[in-house]
Amino acid sequence: MCRIAKFAVEQHLPGVMGLFAAEGWSYASDEQRTSRALSAPGSLTLVALESDEVVGVAQTLGDGEFQAFLTVLIVAESHRRAGIGRKLLKEAIEGTPGVHLDLISRADGFYEAIGFEAMSGFRLRR
Ligand SMILES: CC(C)(COP(=O)(O)OP(=O)(O)OC[C@H]1O[C@@H](n2cnc3c(N)ncnc32)[C@H](O)[C@@H]1OP(=O)(O)O)[C@@H](O)C(=O)NCCC(=O)NCCS
Repeated sequence: MCRIAKFAVEQHLPGVMGLFAAEGWSYASDEQRTSRALSAPGSLTLVALESDEVVGVAQTLGDGEFQAFLTVLIVAESHRRAGIGRKLLKEAIEGTPGVHLDLISRADGFYEAIGFEAMSGFRLRR
């Protein structure tokens, strides 16, 4: 069974970079930037560990009072549909203050199953 831990650069960065690379996310291109992003003020970054192997990562960013965003959620393809995404998200929500948790979805079926309400969203690519 996997356990959830706070992200620590020294132990978890290589595994997390592997998750980003497998999904083709821009985080995969620069370890230093990703390290800074995952440790940003106002953020909570968690990893899912299976015998010390990083099999999932989640990050929330918030103002500490009202608004929070889910900025990262990935579970390794080999470990999907085993409840790890649900567990990571539950712990991320519990550790993140705020009235709302918003996100841009790439996995509608997952968020619907977790109980999120679908709303329209926009993204400016820079
Ligand atoms: C989305 C993601 C994090 C889900 O992780 P996961 O560990 O497989 O999710 P869980 O096993 O906790 O799933 C919980 C429930 O969500 C639903 N669900 C999960 N993946 C789903 C999918 N691809 N399609 C439809 N429903 C899905 C199911 O109801 C599932 O419960 P069940 O397996 O008992 O039927 C994972 O598929 C992933 O990393 N995808 C690639 C990256 C990505 O798109 N991240 C989201 C960015 S917004």
